[in-house]
Amino acid sequence: MKLVLAITGASGVIYGIRLLEELRNKGIDVILIISEAGKKVIELETDYTLEKIYALSSEHYSEFDYKTPVVSGSYKVDGMVICPCSMKTLSAIANGYSANVISRAAECCLKEGKPLIIVFRETPLSLIHLRNLTLLKEAGACIMPAAPGFYHKPESIRDLINFIIGKILDQLGIENNIYTRWGFRGD
Ligand SMILES: Cc1cc2nc3c(=O)[nH]c(=O)nc-3n(C[C@H](O)[C@H](O)[C@H](O)COP(=O)(O)O)c2cc1C
Repeated sequence: MKLVLAITGASGVIYGIRLLEELRNKGIDVILIISEAGKKVIELETDYTLEKIYALSSEHYSEFDYKTPVVSGSYKVDGMVICPCSMKTLSAIANGYSANVISRAAECCLKEGKPLIIVFRETPLSLIHLRNLTLLKEAGACIMPAAPGFYHKPESIRDLINFIIGKILDQLGIENNIYTRWGFRGD
């Protein structure tokens, strides 16, 4: 399996990094694109260096590097996850304004009918946000708010992060046990 993963400048970049770690653990090829704002937020919110994050990917590209193969729908990938997705990138995709490699790769997934998972983080939401989210859902994207559940009685931030990562892996059809599902008896 080969996936595109984009990390943009929304809060919660740790979700994208943890997802990358899990995809690597599962031997999945990841083409990684971190937006310039995403790089800034990684610096502000985590202790990860870009080198350490890039080392987890199979290939990595700048958001402005149009030599990236994923800017063409003819390049074979199995889908794309944007995690976290800023409302700016979400708006670009919803409105067909593919001004960088991230929004173009997402556009390619939509036009080719491949899975596009958008893990957005913002609160509260404006009417414009809601309309853009609706447009994307209508266009075939999977919309996942970065909103972990609490029914598994999380004991750490890692438990909360893993809940979201597990739900993303479920959407991709990737077997995982990194979060506790409702109804799991633990025996
Ligand atoms: C610390 C920090 C946290 C941010 N959190 C969010 C957020 O949660 N959601 C969001 O839509 N934008 C957030 N932003 C604003 C985006 O980074 C900004 O809109 C940026 O232009 C997004 O660019 P990109 O989509 O190319 O990454 C945040 C910015 C900073 C510096």
